Amino acid sequence: MALRLGDIAPDFFAKTTHGNINFHDWLKDSWGILFSHPKDYTPVCTTELGYMSKIKPEFDKRNVKILAISVDPIDSHCGWIGDINETQNTTVNFPIIADPSREISNLYDMIHPKADDTLTVRSVFIIGPDKIIKLSITYPASTGRNFDEVLRVVDSLQLTSNYQVATPVNWKNGDDCIIVPSIPADDIPQKFPKGHKEIKPYLRYTPQPDI
Ligand code: BEZ
Repeated sequence: MALRLGDIAPDFFAKTTHGNINFHDWLKDSWGILFSHPKDYTPVCTTELGYMSKIKPEFDKRNVKILAISVDPIDSHCGWIGDINETQNTTVNFPIIADPSREISNLYDMIHPKADDTLTVRSVFIIGPDKIIKLSITYPASTGRNFDEVLRVVDSLQLTSNYQVATPVNWKNGDDCIIVPSIPADDIPQKFPKGHKEIKPYLRYTPQPDI
């Protein structure tokens, strides 16, 4: 059965380009991003892993660990990393899982047989420090993902987790946030000392709490 938001991210043992890991132990208390790509030595994947390497410092700042996966073996990953570094002007700085048995890909439902019966689609999972799946998205092989959007979701999730705010349409870091509906009006002044605006009883904005 497919994994859903709120499910525990299944634990696994994996061989990666940075050595062997047990997923939950490797995550420790961090947030995590697990993302699959269909195949090594392909153009869209090359640009994706290159870009992710460049913005990894932004994920580090947010205490998020990055882990890629595909069904190709370690020696293929290692050779391809050389090409990514060369062509994308970067250094791949996160582990890539080799999953030739497809055990982990199947565990995370990353193979969609009607799209391709052997290769993974482009899945992304954001996993909280509690090991719970907070986001799951699936892109087709032909569309490179927007990892700035993944970073934006991390910011939104961390605000919700730390401050009981949600984020409105097209929110970006620094914009006003929405006070979650479960907070009674009487509690707002104490919980949101920066102030708030009530547009409707269910639509209440407050300045972003962490800036
Ligand atoms: C790519 O990464 O370029 C790619 C991979 C599989 C199918 C289509 C494109």
